[in-house]
Amino acid sequence: MEKTPVAVLGATGTVGQKFIALLQNHPYFYVNELVASPKSAGTRYKEVCNWKQDSFMPAEVADMVVKSSDEDLESLILFSGMDSQAAGPIEETYANRGHLVVSNAKNHRMDPDVPIIIPEVNSDHFDMVLRQKYAGGIITNSNCSTMFLAMVLAPIQKAFGVHTVHVTTMQAISGAGYPGVPSMDILGNVIPFIGGEEEKMETETKKILGTLRGETILDAEMTISAQCNRVPVFDGHTESVSLGLHEKASPEEIMAVLEAFTGPPQELSLPSAPEKPILVFREDNRPQPARDVWKNAGMSACAGRIRPCPVLDIKMVILGHNTVRGAAGAAILNAETFVEMGYLKALREKDSLPVCSG
Ligand SMILES: NC(=O)c1ccc[n+]([C@@H]2O[C@H](COP(=O)([O-])OP(=O)(O)OC[C@H]3O[C@@H](n4cnc5c(N)ncnc54)[C@H](OP(=O)(O)O)[C@@H]3O)[C@@H](O)[C@H]2O)c1
Repeated sequence: MEKTPVAVLGATGTVGQKFIALLQNHPYFYVNELVASPKSAGTRYKEVCNWKQDSFMPAEVADMVVKSSDEDLESLILFSGMDSQAAGPIEETYANRGHLVVSNAKNHRMDPDVPIIIPEVNSDHFDMVLRQKYAGGIITNSNCSTMFLAMVLAPIQKAFGVHTVHVTTMQAISGAGYPGVPSMDILGNVIPFIGGEEEKMETETKKILGTLRGETILDAEMTISAQCNRVPVFDGHTESVSLGLHEKASPEEIMAVLEAFTGPPQELSLPSAPEKPILVFREDNRPQPARDVWKNAGMSACAGRIRPCPVLDIKMVILGHNTVRGAAGAAILNAETFVEMGYLKALREKDSLPVCSG
């Protein structure tokens, strides 16, 4: 397979660096361009990027000159890890110019014609991209906490129906980007507020689990109450969840549907697909971010402590890697699925042919 050139927008940031690390030696894509804010543009990547990954900076990007987000780009697919202060109009401009923007930013997630994709859950929502007003298109992945909640809710919703969700998060500091929360605020502390996070969990989850009817998505009918906290953990968002179910189910039945859950990425054996999208733990004290966040290369949602809830029906603990399955890894898996399900080909063949030939 000939590799597709891609650009990373927001290449100097936490998510942008994770894109570059995960795209090294990728079988479908190669990093062709790096884009950041005007203050970083015009400088070699190794000179402007404060590289924070465990792996070395890939040699093929180190000497690339960073481009500015107002420049024309030649890559067909643009992976966006841009600050949401800037991402909205920039992503739209590139989609208008014929690029496929695969974004982590919040700006377009709730647009009526833009899907929030978890390919194991709602790959049929990719259809919306072919009807967008752009010459290219925009695909988003959810907020990082929403990702793990929606992944775990999807098979439970399908098997038993979910009417009520109470979720309390304990979110890692890497979720705030770099340098993120000041050390004097977070060390030995819990901050019981993350701006906009609770609203994102309450709205995005219902869109992801919703049904595509014609050109619009009917939100899943459930009530979600989210409480979000920043805790002194480096990577990995943990969530304590209680669920009200339409049809009663035992913890064993819940575990069985979670363990059986699979989707197109697994069926297509995609390069970034975890063998199991959801890992079920039976130990009393798992999952834990320090022990489990890198299970399945950070691409699975972990679920444990599945037990009866005396207020609702079932309660459990969920964990996931916020910058991998919660951000860059999710976007790469979205792009792989989009390619392998034939959507990229269909997008390029639609009436308004993408102007980008990359
Ligand atoms: N961190 C997570 O766990 C996580 C998870 C899910 C989603 N997200 C979302 O992903 C995005 C990136 O988050 P992050 O944590 O990586 O933030 P970050 O570390 O602060 O990085 C932000 C990036 O945006 C770039 N940028 C700022 N203004 C720009 C402009 N005008 N044009 C082009 N690039 C611009 C920055 O470039 P300069 O270095 O040049 O300023 C930097 O590369 C955000 O929208 C965030 O909400 C983050």
